[in-house]
Amino acid sequence: MERLPETIAIASDHAGFELKEPLVRRLEKLGFAVQDVGPRTPEPSDYPDYGRPVARMVAAGVVRRGVLLCGTGLGMSCVANRVRGVRAAVAWSVQVAELSRRHNDANILVLPARFLSGDDAERILEVWLNTEFEGGRHERRVTKIDAEDTAL
Ligand code: RB5
Repeated sequence: MERLPETIAIASDHAGFELKEPLVRRLEKLGFAVQDVGPRTPEPSDYPDYGRPVARMVAAGVVRRGVLLCGTGLGMSCVANRVRGVRAAVAWSVQVAELSRRHNDANILVLPARFLSGDDAERILEVWLNTEFEGGRHERRVTKIDAEDTAL
């Protein structure tokens, strides 16, 4: 039976808008289905309006992974990480992206659009998509992120 392509949800604010389009095309070229949550135009927009829906989709299991873009990556990561079950990682290099998967099992990649070239963003995205979670000792730590009580 033919397998359906994985859907990746993606969104930005105005600062990430320009970089979002080539990343959507890249994802499609890599064989993913893409749900572009917006925005549709480069007019000023508020990152929570677009980041939260993607975070909720990931938390609810509608999609397994998401990509968010804003100027620094910080606003989007703040919003996404407030949604329980989301592990949104700001990645400014291939190595950080790789570690965010191997060690943190990040389920949302956040890109600081004002600080990345298009080529770098595509490289970071591909590595992030292709890197598996290591599990083991990292599993215990990741589980503690959503635990009610942690040893203090
Ligand atoms: C928008 O100017 C900018 O503040 C936003 O994209 C993001 O960097 C916020 O964290």
